[in-house]
Amino acid sequence: MKYMSHDDIRNTWFDFFTKHGHKKIESAPLVPINDDSLLWVNAGVTPLKKYFDGTEVPDCRRLTSIQKCIRTNDIENVGVTKRHQTFFEMMGNFSVGDYFKEEAIEFSYELLTSPEYFGIDKDLLYVTVYSTDDVARDKWVDVGISPSHVVRLKENFWEIGEGPCGPDSEIFFDRGEKYDPDGDALEKFKKDEDQERYVEIWNNVFSQFNSKEGVPREEYKELPSKNIDTGAGLERWCCIFQGVDSNFETDLFKPILKHIEELGKEKYEGQKEYKVIADHIRAITFALADGASFENVGRGYVIRRLLRRAVVAGKKLGIDEPFLAKMVPTVGKIMEDYYPDVLKNADYIASVIESEEDRFSATLNGGLNLLNNVIAEAKENKTNEIDGRTAFKLYDTYGFPIELTKEYAEDEGLTVDEKGFQAAMTEQQNRARNARDMDNGMGVQTDLWTSFKEDSKYVGYTDLAVDNAKVIGLAHDGQQADEAQPGDKNIELIFDVTPF
Ligand code: SER
Repeated sequence: MKYMSHDDIRNTWFDFFTKHGHKKIESAPLVPINDDSLLWVNAGVTPLKKYFDGTEVPDCRRLTSIQKCIRTNDIENVGVTKRHQTFFEMMGNFSVGDYFKEEAIEFSYELLTSPEYFGIDKDLLYVTVYSTDDVARDKWVDVGISPSHVVRLKENFWEIGEGPCGPDSEIFFDRGEKYDPDGDALEKFKKDEDQERYVEIWNNVFSQFNSKEGVPREEYKELPSKNIDTGAGLERWCCIFQGVDSNFETDLFKPILKHIEELGKEKYEGQKEYKVIADHIRAITFALADGASFENVGRGYVIRRLLRRAVVAGKKLGIDEPFLAKMVPTVGKIMEDYYPDVLKNADYIASVIESEEDRFSATLNGGLNLLNNVIAEAKENKTNEIDGRTAFKLYDTYGFPIELTKEYAEDEGLTVDEKGFQAAMTEQQNRARNARDMDNGMGVQTDLWTSFKEDSKYVGYTDLAVDNAKVIGLAHDGQQADEAQPGDKNIELIFDVTPF
């Protein structure tokens, strides 16, 4: 098969669909616009929902795009498998009440097999169809796919919540015997089980029903105007057309892996950590470029979690200083022709990443020491579990998301007491609530510091530590005092400069 770069693949895709009357649309930002139902745009069809449900009518009923997507439902798998990513691009063609199933199948077949486009040998293609979808099954055979390469599966039905949904048909590429050491890949594939030989490259959704809660699937009503929604993962296509083992070895990732090699102490030999960093830095960079920011909840927490996981991965590769910000231009450069804004805003994006990374780095070593010590202890006393209190301390004091602690522990064959973690979390929330109540009460009873005349400068917005600070005020048991003795309890101190 001919080698194709990501540029070649993108251009060939658009060339084919624009020739067939589709209007090319730009990728929407990753942060959904006017759609609170999702944290991220997670498929090519997401920004087009307004057309599919009839809220708006597009000026062209045939559309094609390559959409930036983030999916974070299984972050833990990124780095473990050859294909899981959180950030990816999805090539798609869409029909909004224009052509339907049979034409969509004709398009897919022609684009994949015609020597003018991708020129794949048809014998290397396999397809799945919904169990009862005879129209799709017959059409695939009609265009040229061998009947033995068409598999019926009851899982082939695309549906998210209420609204347009329908059977789908997935297209697979046979990567050959090299990826089938036990000779059982076909059998597994037919049972919808994981294997490495037949890789899904394209999903065609025949959006023809309206799903309704409480209504069985067989009774869904037909949509008045039927749609086509397809999605083909660009990174997988690169993997196939570049003849490499995993998505991470394609031209979309290689410069990133090379950069990590330069920063760390280990050469790339397929290590999980390389893939984690390479995927996460792409997701974080693009999310920030599209308006997300680091936060403790929702979308912002997702990227915070990605950053922290990447930092820990870097540490395992022997990268001892903050490094993620340095990689932003590398990510931007690979994508420059398609998303020039990323490179243009690289300085800004890098500065946001740098301060987030600095924040975590300040507590990272302490957290890792604690974690490594409890792991050693748990192994020694054979509990093989990290207790909930420690997991909570790692979260609360050292900024380790619980998922990160779990993953780190799992790598060492240990589990985490999640119930105990939740209990410690609730306990702390209660404590905070009580303390707040108490604060209010105290505020009424004493005006200890309101009468204090000297200025104390707060620098916590920019600094987490201060080298030289002077004590300018002191209280003992809620009363201003001139001195305190070792062993005294309930002492409050005021400094002239403070990050607290
Ligand atoms: N929406 C479908 C998917 O994400 C096809 O694009 O697979």
